[in-house]
Amino acid sequence: MSLVLGALLAIPQAMAGDAAAGKAIYDGKGACASCHGPAGAGDGLAAAALNPKPASFAAGAFRLDTDGDGQTGTDTDLANVIKNGGGKYGGNPAMPGRADFSDAEIANLVAYIHTLKK
Ligand code: HEC
Repeated sequence: MSLVLGALLAIPQAMAGDAAAGKAIYDGKGACASCHGPAGAGDGLAAAALNPKPASFAAGAFRLDTDGDGQTGTDTDLANVIKNGGGKYGGNPAMPGRADFSDAEIANLVAYIHTLKK
C-alpha cells in the first residue's frame, strides 16, 4: 500500500522543475545572468555586445518557436533552446547550448525563468 502511494507521489515531482534549484544554476554554473541579467531583463554584463539581444524574461517576451506550434516561450521551446542553443532555431548562436545539463537541470531552469516574469 505505502509502496503504491510512494510511486504515485513520485511522478509529479519528477516532472515539475524546481525553481529554486534553477536559480542556483542561473546565477551559478550556467552563467545565464551574465547575458540575461540577474532578474532576466536581458541586461547582463555581456548583453551589450549581443545582437539580437536576449529577450526579456521579465517581460515574458520570447522570440524562438522551436517546435513550429506557432507559440514562443512554451516549456518545450525554453528547454530546447537551453539544451541546443539559439542558432539551431534561427536565433542568435551566441546563446550557448547546454547539452551537458541533465533534463532535470533544464526543467529547473525553465521553472525559474517562468518565475522571473513580472
Ligand atoms: C553568452 C550570452 C548568453 C548566455 C551565457 C546565455 N544566454 Fe540565453 N540567450 C542569449 C541570447 C543572445 C539569446 C537570444 C537568441 C535570439 O533571440 O536570437 C538567448 C536566448 C535564450 C532563450 C530563448 C528566449 C526566447 O526569446 O525564445 C532562453 C530560454 C535562454 N536564452 C536561456 C538561457 C539560460 C537558461 C542560460 C544559462 C544556462 C542562458 N540562456 C545563457 C545569450 C546567452
